[in-house]
Amino acid sequence: MYSPPERLLLGPGPSNVAPSVLQAMNSPLIGHLDPEFIKMMEEIKSMLRLVFRTENEMTFPVSGTGSAGMETCFVNLVEPGDEVVIGVNGVFGMRMCDVAERCGANVIKVEAEWGNIIEPAAIEASLKNRRPKLVAVVHAETSTGALTPVEEISRITHEAGALLLLDTVTSLGGCPVSIAEWQVDAVYSGTQKCLSCPPGLAPVSFSPRAMEVISNRNSKVQSWYLDINFLANYWGSERVYHHTAPISMNYAIHEALRLVIDEGLETRWARHQQAYEKLKDGLANLGLTITSQEGHQIWQLNAISVPTGANEAKIRTQLLNEFGIEVGPGLGPLKGKIWRVGLMGHNATDANVEHFLEALSKCLA
Ligand SMILES: Cc1ncc(COP(=O)(O)O)c(C=O)c1O
Repeated sequence: MYSPPERLLLGPGPSNVAPSVLQAMNSPLIGHLDPEFIKMMEEIKSMLRLVFRTENEMTFPVSGTGSAGMETCFVNLVEPGDEVVIGVNGVFGMRMCDVAERCGANVIKVEAEWGNIIEPAAIEASLKNRRPKLVAVVHAETSTGALTPVEEISRITHEAGALLLLDTVTSLGGCPVSIAEWQVDAVYSGTQKCLSCPPGLAPVSFSPRAMEVISNRNSKVQSWYLDINFLANYWGSERVYHHTAPISMNYAIHEALRLVIDEGLETRWARHQQAYEKLKDGLANLGLTITSQEGHQIWQLNAISVPTGANEAKIRTQLLNEFGIEVGPGLGPLKGKIWRVGLMGHNATDANVEHFLEALSKCLA
């Protein structure tokens, strides 16, 4: 049997998972249409609604990683020729543009410097004399560490008659996400970040307004696998076979969500904020800074400046080999300039921050 080394996963995801989540995955398989499995699916849906803070009926995990969640939102909402406005301030905004273009959308990009947020005023300007079907933004841009505030963008989007699509892959479970209050129409996430579950499922939620837009489509949804009409028949009351659900991953998300709810969302967010503040203070003592926009830094994903003269890749390798700590590199224009340090879910603790700071200072010395 393959035996992986022990790692402290302080990169951009996956994060380490609680022992009980791994234990849940070890449970015996039952069939994906077994009444007991169906009962568990209902519990997953209810817990996801609590964590997303929504009452949307159409809330469930798609079988696939966060990118499958992204594709699910776009392929169902976008038809060829539709106009879509997308905020681009990093890798995942760019990925959204690629996905939307593959759906045949006419994409209008609202770009911001990497590390900065998407400003509501920039979205507003892009909507002048336009009536796009959709505005899409990444809440927590994992490639840069910037957290774009959603409420103002939501108001502007709805005033323009468009739907709002939100990426919460890195934010869900680590900082406030409130789908009903923010009036988000379509949202996706991933399991492997602040939910502290292995990668493999993509929680999604669609508002009744989004479902109405989907039901009025002129063309078939481009993807058979991700067609919400089929998925709704499987995850809804019909229970019609569509694909074989990844049984053990569903055991895992059930346990991971149970832990999130048991801890309480506010307590969990506060734990992430506390870990971020401790890290920021410790970095200041080492003469290092977090490079993303001040006041909009993601607690759970920190873009740390690589000091002049230090070799970014060499130190990252040393952290892994000598201390068993994984951190992430910068991407695109930030390559070589930052380390991306995640304090996600199970890993957002004072002890992990102290361990990381000690290891980093040894590497820098
Ligand atoms: C903000 C964001 N969106 C989407 C994704 C894609 O998720 P996955 O890699 O699970 O497919 C990621 C992954 O890191 C992400 O951070």
